[in-house]
Amino acid sequence: MTEKNLNSNEWGNNLSFILAMIGSAVGLGNIWRFPYVLYSCGGGAFYIPYFVAVLTLGIPFLILEYGMGYNFKASFPKGLRTINKKYEFMGWILPLSIFGVSIYYCVIIGWIVIYVVLSFYKGWGDNTDKFFDQTILQSSTTGTNWFIVWFVSHKQLEKGIGRFNKILVPSLFVIMFFIVIYSLTLDGASIGLKILFKPDWSLLKSFSIWTSAYGQVLFSLSLGYSEAYTYAGYTGRDTDLVTSAIITTIANCGFENFCALGVFSVLGHMSKVKSTAITKLVSQGTGLVFIAYPAVLNILGKLAYVIGPAFFLSVLFAGLTSMLSMIEPFSFSIQNKFTWSRKKTATIEIIFGAICSMLFATGYGNELLGHVDNYINNVLVLFSIAIECYIFSWAFDIKRAMRTLNDRSKSIKLGWWWLAIIRVILPIIIIVIWFGTLYEMFSN
Ligand code: PHE
Repeated sequence: MTEKNLNSNEWGNNLSFILAMIGSAVGLGNIWRFPYVLYSCGGGAFYIPYFVAVLTLGIPFLILEYGMGYNFKASFPKGLRTINKKYEFMGWILPLSIFGVSIYYCVIIGWIVIYVVLSFYKGWGDNTDKFFDQTILQSSTTGTNWFIVWFVSHKQLEKGIGRFNKILVPSLFVIMFFIVIYSLTLDGASIGLKILFKPDWSLLKSFSIWTSAYGQVLFSLSLGYSEAYTYAGYTGRDTDLVTSAIITTIANCGFENFCALGVFSVLGHMSKVKSTAITKLVSQGTGLVFIAYPAVLNILGKLAYVIGPAFFLSVLFAGLTSMLSMIEPFSFSIQNKFTWSRKKTATIEIIFGAICSMLFATGYGNELLGHVDNYINNVLVLFSIAIECYIFSWAFDIKRAMRTLNDRSKSIKLGWWWLAIIRVILPIIIIVIWFGTLYEMFSN
């Protein structure tokens, strides 16, 4: 890579990097997935596996990806190739997989675009369930999203992704703040919150809630796909990566918990007004945003015309900033390999992605989405985390990288505890999760 290319792939300042990382982390996984996972995995009891996962996987692994990204300042395959040529192949799998995820993620963002428009006139009608199944699932618009993503990502890094996140991420936080505060004041909100947090301690013995906690932290913090690695590779010399990892984690986890409060307050309100059992309202992840939420807006009266568009717009912002980070690792890998420009790479990649996403936008989309989501998120990414731990901490001089991270850290200093987690504890946890999942699959 030439000096000029390298410079054009640098963040303007640390704020751009942190906001881009938060933009990547805070996405549909926080708004659409987390409240449901929290509710269905033991409510308040879920916080035990959740915090264990944040401490043993979230923060330590994010620091590892940041440290390695900065160390190599090259795409993931190229970085792995520097360690050993035979690892380059593995280096391509992750950027490609996350590009694969972006293809269906974009379909969900497409649904959100439709809901943004519909929210101005409650265009989903009275039966939001039927509307989602019969209208939305059959017709999706992904084209607009791909265009926006292209428009942002083909530009020089700071002028495109940097600026976009600087506007959208703060806006998203501000809008969500007001929506959640408003939701908490609704009549019946406490019914929803009680149900959400009511701890079911017996579930702690169940293997699946531990797997769900690790799965949630992993997806929500965008770990294991070389995304954090890629964004950190664009940082300058003075970035404090350890503190950035902690800030990203706090912002992301804080945001998803805050959203859960909002979502369940609204459901509590609805259960009170309609005298429906709240358990009936919480159908599934998709249902919360696309079925239950519009149904609540239907009963809110005039204010719904403000709350509705604001809510769906903020979900859209969250989705788009994550989507941008999903196509970046593969784009950077191609740029490095073939010395193509950012503009050319982004254009070709996005045309390809847009064509593929049409597949998901058919009647079979939802089913296909389930399979791809399951395979990539539950099987592949866990595998990749274990491999990354191995390559970076055993086949590479991790202690030198640790010293560099410590030199710039103004908060905590890494030490034996971090090495122990990356080298031994995390790989063991991942292996246990794999075997446990396999065992549960066969014993059912
Ligand atoms: N963290 C994003 C979300 O919660 C998803 C994501 C995963 C983004 C991996 C980039 C990489 O929706």
